[in-house]
Amino acid sequence: MRKERLFINKKKRTKWWISLAVIFTILVGASLGTLSMYNWSVNQAIQGLFYNTKQPVNVADDTGEENPSDNNEEDPTSETPDPSEDELDDVTPPTYGENEKTPETIEEPTFVEDVLISNKQNPIPATYDPGESEEAREAFLAMKAAGAAEGFDLVAFSTYRSYDTQVRLYSEYVEDYGQDEADRFSARPGYSEHQTGLSFDIGEVGQEIHWAEDSFQDTAAAHWLNENAHNFGFILRYPEDKEHITGYKYEAWHFRYLGEDLATEVYNSELTLEEYLNI
Ligand code: DAL
Ligand code: ZN
Repeated sequence: MRKERLFINKKKRTKWWISLAVIFTILVGASLGTLSMYNWSVNQAIQGLFYNTKQPVNVADDTGEENPSDNNEEDPTSETPDPSEDELDDVTPPTYGENEKTPETIEEPTFVEDVLISNKQNPIPATYDPGESEEAREAFLAMKAAGAAEGFDLVAFSTYRSYDTQVRLYSEYVEDYGQDEADRFSARPGYSEHQTGLSFDIGEVGQEIHWAEDSFQDTAAAHWLNENAHNFGFILRYPEDKEHITGYKYEAWHFRYLGEDLATEVYNSELTLEEYLNI
């Protein structure tokens, strides 16, 4: 009798365990499903946020020991589906006007008075691939330290970008904004100063909302950079009201490294680089 009861109890207990296991499995499954959906929607939201950003953002480290920049391909825009390699090969990058020089035909970048030029009239070879300038990074770190003393936590969120990265970015911008508008704020592949490794897009840590946005120009950090960057070798490359000369809208965040002496001369001249070099 006792044995039988035990047997009955055992059967009951087995059933009970099975029920418990089923309920547990359902609960775990439902939780995982909810979590992954939440994660997916958060990712979508983040991607959506940055997809509308008109500039690529490659978050550089603060130490500068290793700048992820282009090598990283970590800009949020890259979270949008990339064209496949085949698609990239199919892209025939546009050139400007009647330029004889194209990134595909020239073999060396243009230098004027020892200054490497990359603008709408002077492309750089598609194969030109120097990576981020170490000298510019060191100068940026010195500027960052000086900025920190003033209460600004500066970060170079986009520095060196390869030709292929610019192919992808530019085609995305054209798709989103149309070619005429894209040409006002994005260089075509082979024409970006970022490909020289000498241009740094600068913002403040934790102020991503102003990164590569017009709103950056009104921040105290932008004012400080505007007045002090030349002391560290950088010039504001695309100043306000100079689009007819530089070819690009005002970018309060885009700084070009020239070295302290030349940057100071260009700054004091109140001219754009094109005007200063008379090119
Ligand atoms: N935004 C600058 C012009 C570039 O794309 O290089
Ligand atoms: Zn830039």
